[in-house]
Amino acid sequence: MIMRNKYRYERLFSEGNIGSLRVKNRIIMGPTETLYGSACGEVTGEVIEYYRRRAAGGVGMILLHSVQCNTAVDKLDPYAGSLRLDNDAFIPRLSDLAEAVHREGAKLAVLCSIGGGAKGAGEDYLTNGPGGAERVSPSNISGDGGKLASRAMDTEEIKRTVTEYGRCAERARDAGIDAFFIHAVGSYLLAEFLSPIYNRRTDEYGGCAENRWKLLFELVEECRKRVGRNYPIALRISADELTPGGRGLDETRAFLPRLAAAGVDAFDIAVGLKEPLHQTIPNIYMPVGGNLGIVSEIKRSVDVPVICSGRLSEPGSAERVLESGTADFISIGRGLIADPDLPVKAMSGKEDSIRRCLSCNYCIGQRIIKKLPLRCAINPYAGREAFEKENVEPADKPRQIVVIGGGPAGLEAARYLGLRGHTVDLYEAGGSLCAGQLAAATVPPCKEGLRNIPRYYLELLERMDNVHIHLNTALDSQTAAGLGADSYIVATGAKPVVPHIEGIHGKNVFTAEESLHNGLGVGKNVVILGGGQVGVEAAHYYSEKGRNVTVVEQLPRVADREEPMTRAALMELLAKNSVRLLVCHRVVRLTDNSVELIDTVSGRQATVPFDTALISFGSTPDRTLADELTEMGLDVYTAGDCESVWDIASAIAQAHYKAVKYF
Ligand SMILES: Cc1cc2nc3c(=O)[nH]c(=O)nc-3n(C[C@H](O)[C@H](O)[C@H](O)COP(=O)(O)O)c2cc1C
Ligand code: SF4
Repeated sequence: MIMRNKYRYERLFSEGNIGSLRVKNRIIMGPTETLYGSACGEVTGEVIEYYRRRAAGGVGMILLHSVQCNTAVDKLDPYAGSLRLDNDAFIPRLSDLAEAVHREGAKLAVLCSIGGGAKGAGEDYLTNGPGGAERVSPSNISGDGGKLASRAMDTEEIKRTVTEYGRCAERARDAGIDAFFIHAVGSYLLAEFLSPIYNRRTDEYGGCAENRWKLLFELVEECRKRVGRNYPIALRISADELTPGGRGLDETRAFLPRLAAAGVDAFDIAVGLKEPLHQTIPNIYMPVGGNLGIVSEIKRSVDVPVICSGRLSEPGSAERVLESGTADFISIGRGLIADPDLPVKAMSGKEDSIRRCLSCNYCIGQRIIKKLPLRCAINPYAGREAFEKENVEPADKPRQIVVIGGGPAGLEAARYLGLRGHTVDLYEAGGSLCAGQLAAATVPPCKEGLRNIPRYYLELLERMDNVHIHLNTALDSQTAAGLGADSYIVATGAKPVVPHIEGIHGKNVFTAEESLHNGLGVGKNVVILGGGQVGVEAAHYYSEKGRNVTVVEQLPRVADREEPMTRAALMELLAKNSVRLLVCHRVVRLTDNSVELIDTVSGRQATVPFDTALISFGSTPDRTLADELTEMGLDVYTAGDCESVWDIASAIAQAHYKAVKYF
């Protein structure tokens, strides 16, 4: 039953139970691998500070990302820097972590995995490098279309895994962790046992559904035997593999009530199998709360709490999910990476000041998957929480600072400098913040989330008396110098590269950015020259508008630097809209209505007719103003694309570092 309380989001901020555990609100931080652990899998100071900070932001419970239970059998960790629970030696630092989270008033649960399975992509823990261990799986099925060979576990290894798993639950309890979550999502080892696709065993652990679920029942039984009836145990499971020939929702619905009877206190629902990341971590092209239909089916089948996730970090959306009875808890992953204070801001009616996640998947696709520690595009402090504390000290000698350019880098510099107590005047040539490249980037379908960047900064900066924003004010060097500031931060961005190609200044030729920006009318047949992120997103936009679109790219792949999951989704959309991709093609010349190309592999020539050609060959720093001001002998710093062309994450982080270092 939900008790009435004084908060706007009554349900979200009502207490709830997972088994015997009382949680102060309905927000659980979803498991998000950080790779902040030590090389051998131990909790470090960074792990503690990262989660302590989230606990301080008001989350009810944190689910510590997949921790390994069984390196004796499955030696492959997803990546070095992941955490382990397979030895008592890990207990002391886990208990430090639990203590830090408890001190801030939140609960801590741990998500424990039995291994990576046929798709496990990691390195051998014990040799700390690839190649030292065999991949184990239910039945010799190779992952990734046969590229990753694996060996079927024998019965003795399965029994050993069950025993080890029970010990992990005990260790979690002994470390002071409040709940133990079993990990059966994606196509990791336990999920593979449940899957008719991966599990082709002919013994007691394979074949019929009953046998495929047997290992999971044994794990629950072993954990219960060791930790007793009262310690909370939950299951994070893909409810529907969403893959032809895979386990469907009906089967899951049949087994979950039995698992609840066997001692599972809550179900945390995910979906997907082969593309767990694509399905479990929805990118910008996937809907908010896309799994909720499946979640509500599960909710109807069980009488223990159900947890759901998937772009549900808007407090209003989360409240509606609870209100509709679809789920009992909302798991927020990326929303809390982007802003640890999301709960406290929502609770205190300051939701406008939430630094909203962009769903850009930089954190996973450009960091974790590349074996790099977690960072966030919009939150420069993620993973650098200790640094955040030092930052907000008032400046010894406040300065008069002019920031030129109201894009992400200029705004981040202004935010930090404003917090330190400097007087900041920010000048933006356009009529709104982020009116340059970022504004063009918000035009293609599903990209509107980027508007959260100016929204967030504006809300924050408007509340600072010492920061003044001047829109529609383009400064030349004389005017800027005349302002007499102590220092200048020039964040004037970048300008499109226009190479010397015959016909490129033709009347039907525009830059992709200016066409998106100014809503230029383009003809029926559009050719886009340059298949980087901007070009490909423009192709998506115009193909959605019914144009025939061809993208020409010199490299073998379009959108080569795009985050892989987002890229995969975008490629599907381009294919659906029949966008023609001409890779390995170089532009030779343009006429008024056609472009001549050369195939760089075969050497063959090709001609593509067009009504409109859009060029998208990248951009180059626009340093004109910075150079002029420097020549005048002023104290000048560049930030963002004006210094070097960055992605948003790097532009914000670099602007932040620079402001920290020099002011
Ligand atoms: C950086 C990152 C790491 C993740 N690591 C894990 C993990 O270790 N185990 C897991 O089950 N899910 C993991 N997930 C999935 C999230 O827990 C969550 O289900 C997903 O991000 C959708 O929720 P959100 O939209 O609130 O982020 C990860 C997601 C991200 C973005
Ligand atoms: S990197 Fe992008 S997707 Fe990940 S938390 Fe930050 S804003 Fe969200």
